[in-house]
Amino acid sequence: MAQDTLTIVDNRTNRTCSLPIESGAVRASDFRQIKTAPEDFGLMTYDPAFMNTASCRSSVTFIDGERGILEYRGYPIEVLAEHCTFLEVAYLLLFGELPNETELKNWVHEITHHTMLHENTKKFMEGFRHDAHPMAMLVSTVAALATVYPEARNIHDPGIRLLQIKRLIGKMPSIAAMSYRHSLGFPYVYPDNDLTYPANFMNMLWKMVEPKYAANPVLARALDILFILHADHEQNCSTNAMRSVGSSHADPYLATAAAAAALSGPLHGGANEEVLKMLDEIGSRENVPSYVKKVRDGHGKLMGFGHRVYKNYDPRAKIIKWTAEQVFEVTGRNSKLDIAMELERIALEDEYFIQRKLYPNVDFYSGIIYQAMGFKPEMFTVLFAIPRTVGWLAQWQEMLLDGEQKIARPRQIYTGHRGRQFMPIDRRTPLAVTKA
Ligand code: CMC
Repeated sequence: MAQDTLTIVDNRTNRTCSLPIESGAVRASDFRQIKTAPEDFGLMTYDPAFMNTASCRSSVTFIDGERGILEYRGYPIEVLAEHCTFLEVAYLLLFGELPNETELKNWVHEITHHTMLHENTKKFMEGFRHDAHPMAMLVSTVAALATVYPEARNIHDPGIRLLQIKRLIGKMPSIAAMSYRHSLGFPYVYPDNDLTYPANFMNMLWKMVEPKYAANPVLARALDILFILHADHEQNCSTNAMRSVGSSHADPYLATAAAAAALSGPLHGGANEEVLKMLDEIGSRENVPSYVKKVRDGHGKLMGFGHRVYKNYDPRAKIIKWTAEQVFEVTGRNSKLDIAMELERIALEDEYFIQRKLYPNVDFYSGIIYQAMGFKPEMFTVLFAIPRTVGWLAQWQEMLLDGEQKIARPRQIYTGHRGRQFMPIDRRTPLAVTKA
């Protein structure tokens, strides 16, 4: 018998079947041959929330959750965060190799020259309510870019695809900054092509009447590192949304908007905003033990803790802690840090968290840095979406070029009624529907 196979005995029929094992996986569709009768549909696998299902082959990002390892295209995240700029890492994620000097210069030039937004897009943003959530503005505006670039629908043309990739990476900070200034009632600031990617973002966020914005280099570098850390994270919820929507051959602006919408949820990228709310609620170090007890007793979650894949310290959280120290030297220490560190200390000694292998994730400390830099919590997830756009696009392109991929269309186990008798409207029983 071949060694790399899985032998299954179907106790319903006493038939045996061998399935090939490849890359540590069996193909779910191979189970379809296991039937009780020829007309039987065949066995399915049931995996709500994809707990144990690989939906693709990918060479973009590697994670070993047990050991706390994260690599982009084979390079450890710690090395990239120390030596590279975000745009250099973006190039690596998209094209598979680090750029040489000329390649990087050209790449930076091209991204820089795609930062402007069409004036119609600016007007579109002006229509949002003054108190609209910046993430909702970002999602809607990214989708609206599909109206500005209709050629983007031609996703099978590599040149057109690349152009939209550059546009999205270039314009994301511009949209993010506009959503920020809109919520403050400030006039929008146009991009400054003399500045680096993070410094230009800071310029669009914070320039007031000065003729030229001068970004603090420590803060600009910290933002760039945070962008590197958030650039990709293999098949997370938003990337899965990008691949799923992209698999219907929707254009990249609409697929990116869908991915950003998935990111906005508090269990995913929205967690960084929730962490700050939680630290506010805790209020002081003294209140930490009772808060942890509350969580342990089943009341709520520790936001910024736990991860589907990491069952060890999230390597990004370590780098963020180090970056926080640099930022606080400029901005002064954020008092929330003390509460956060106490929370981490107590949680990591608590049986509940130890047993479940719950460690701080990327969102635990990032909000504290962002707040020290002057961002409101509502902006935190927007700051996550800017760099993650690169990961979404790298994964989207990989999906489109993968001959094995088709439109994403899971199966279901139907649990509802069948063949019911139709009732005329005057004979139907009213439902007890909860009033809003
Ligand atoms: N606080 C308290 N208990 C938790 C937490 C938490 N943060 N996370 C998981 N648990 C418990 C959970 O209740 C469950 O307990 P039990 O076995 O007794 O039912 C156990 O740990 C396993 O958790 P799970 O919900 O089955 O794990 P999951 O893989 O489905 O969820 C998660 C992963 C990230 C959604 C979850 O850990 C969570 O909700 N964390 C808080 C939100 C958060 O920080 N999200 C950011 C994730 S990292 C960055 C990103 O993706 O954007």
